[in-house]
Amino acid sequence: MGSEPHPLRPRLFARLSPGVSLGINAAAELVASFDGRTLRLGKFSPNTLGRIAEFSDGVALDASGDPENAREVAALIKRLGLYGLLEYRLTDVAERADLLVVEPQMRGYAPRLGFVEESQPLALSRFAYIRRRGGDMVLESPRAGALFRLCDARVLAFIARLAQARTLEELRDLPDFPGVEVLGLLLDAEILFTPGPGADKGPRAAEGDDGFVLWDFHDLLFHSRSTNGRHATPSGGLYAYSRLVPPLPAVRPAWPGAAVDLTPFDAAPSPFAALLRQRRSIRSYDSQNPISLAEVAQILDRAARILSVRRLRDDFRNGAEFEIARRPYPSGGASYELELYLAVDKCEGLERGFYHYDAARHALVAIPTDERDLAAMLEDGQLAMGAPSSPQILITMAARFGRVSWKYSGFAYALVLKHVGVLMQTLYLVAAEMEIGACAIGAGDIDLFSKMTGVAFHIEGAVGQMAIGRASASALDDD
Ligand SMILES: Cc1cc2nc3c(=O)[nH]c(=O)nc-3n(C[C@H](O)[C@H](O)[C@H](O)COP(=O)(O)O)c2cc1C
Repeated sequence: MGSEPHPLRPRLFARLSPGVSLGINAAAELVASFDGRTLRLGKFSPNTLGRIAEFSDGVALDASGDPENAREVAALIKRLGLYGLLEYRLTDVAERADLLVVEPQMRGYAPRLGFVEESQPLALSRFAYIRRRGGDMVLESPRAGALFRLCDARVLAFIARLAQARTLEELRDLPDFPGVEVLGLLLDAEILFTPGPGADKGPRAAEGDDGFVLWDFHDLLFHSRSTNGRHATPSGGLYAYSRLVPPLPAVRPAWPGAAVDLTPFDAAPSPFAALLRQRRSIRSYDSQNPISLAEVAQILDRAARILSVRRLRDDFRNGAEFEIARRPYPSGGASYELELYLAVDKCEGLERGFYHYDAARHALVAIPTDERDLAAMLEDGQLAMGAPSSPQILITMAARFGRVSWKYSGFAYALVLKHVGVLMQTLYLVAAEMEIGACAIGAGDIDLFSKMTGVAFHIEGAVGQMAIGRASASALDDD
C-alpha cells in the first residue's frame, strides 16, 4: 500500500472469490464461510470490521489512509489469499470497467504489477494460451501461479500483439494499448517474459530459465494440471458427471465374433503368478510394529537400486552418446529418470524425516525440511487413501525430466507416467513378496514437493506416490 495512486491509472482490487462470505461470530471474531466450512480469521479492530462489506466489490491494494488500518487490511488480504479465498480485479478506473480478473491457482499467490522499463522487450511465453471457459475467455500458463479472466475484448486482442517481442515503448504506440499495469501483471506471472539475446529467438526460448528448453507445451501443461499443487480446479474422485452419464460396465461387452476358449489351458499358478494374485493395496498400517529400516533397504534394493552404469551410443539416430544406469525395472530408452524420496513417519531404526534414495550408493540421504511440510505431505497421503492414519512411509517418485526429453519429443511426459506405472507395480510386487503393505496414490502436491526439495517443479518434479508400511491386522482381514 503505497502513496496516493494516479486517479486514472488501472488499479488492483482484492475481492472475495465467488461463494465466499465474511461475517462476525459470537466471540466477535472475523470468520470466512465457504463450501459449508467456517474459517476463524481472528480479532480485528472495529475500523477493519466496519470495512468487510468492501471485500464483496474489492479493496484497493494501493489504497492509502490510516496506516494502522491499512496494515490490518493488508494482513487480512494476505490471510484470505493463503486460503485461496480471493480473486483480484484490475480495473480501468476512468471507464469503471474491469480489464481482467486474476484467479490465483497456487496457495498464497498475490498479483504484483511488475516494473517494466520503456526499452524492455516483452513477448508472450510459449507456454501461455487463451481458451473459452464457460462464458469467459481465460489466459493461462503452467508457469503462472494464476489465471487471468479477460474481461475486455481490447485486452484479449492486444495479447495477440505480444507474439513478437516488442519494447514497452513500441507497444504504447499500438492501438488499444491496455496500459502498462496489464503488462506488469502478466510479466510478474511469467505469462510474458523478456527475451534474452540469441537463445530466445528460436521456437524453444529459454524464457529466462534453461530448464524450460526441453519442455514441449503440452507436456508442461499436463504436468502442472494433472495433479495437485499448481491449479485451483477441483479434481479427484468427484463423480462430476455421474448424474448425466451412467458408469461403463466393469467388463467390456463381448465382440460378436467366434471365441477361442482358453480355459482348457488353465494351469496351477506359478509362484510368480500366485504373487500377482495375492498382491493388493493396503491402506492401514500397524503403528505398534512399524516397518523396519532393514525391510525398507530390501524393498529399495529389489525394486530400484542401480545395477550398472555404462555409456550408450545411439547409432540408429545421430550417434548421440549418453550414460545409462540400469535398475531392476524397464524404462523407455533406458532413461531411468525416476528418483525416490521417502517421507518417513514411523520406521524402526530410521528417524522421522525426509530422505532421498541414492540408488547408486544404496543409501538414504536426509534432506532438511520444515516439519509442517513433512506433516502436510504425510497427511495428503492419508487423505488420498481415506486411511485411518498416516502412511508409515510415503514414497514420492520424482522425474528428472531432462533425462527423457533430451532424447524424446512429443511424448516425453507420457513416457514418464508410464514409467511411474512400471515402478509402482514393481514396488507393489516386491512389497507383496515381503508381506509389506503398499498402496499407490494417484495425485500428489507437486508444489509442496518442490518446496521440500528446493528443486523447481519442471526440473525434478513429483510424478507419483506410493505408501508403504506394516499392514494392520484389520487390513489383512479385508476382502
Ligand atoms: C496409478 C494408481 C493410482 C492409485 N491411486 C490411489 C489413491 O490415490 N488412493 C487409494 O486409496 N488407492 C489408489 N490406488 C489403488 C487402487 O485403488 C487399487 O489398486 C484398486 O482398487 C485395486 O485394488 P488392489 O490394488 O487391492 O488389487 C491406485 C492405484 C494405481 C495403480
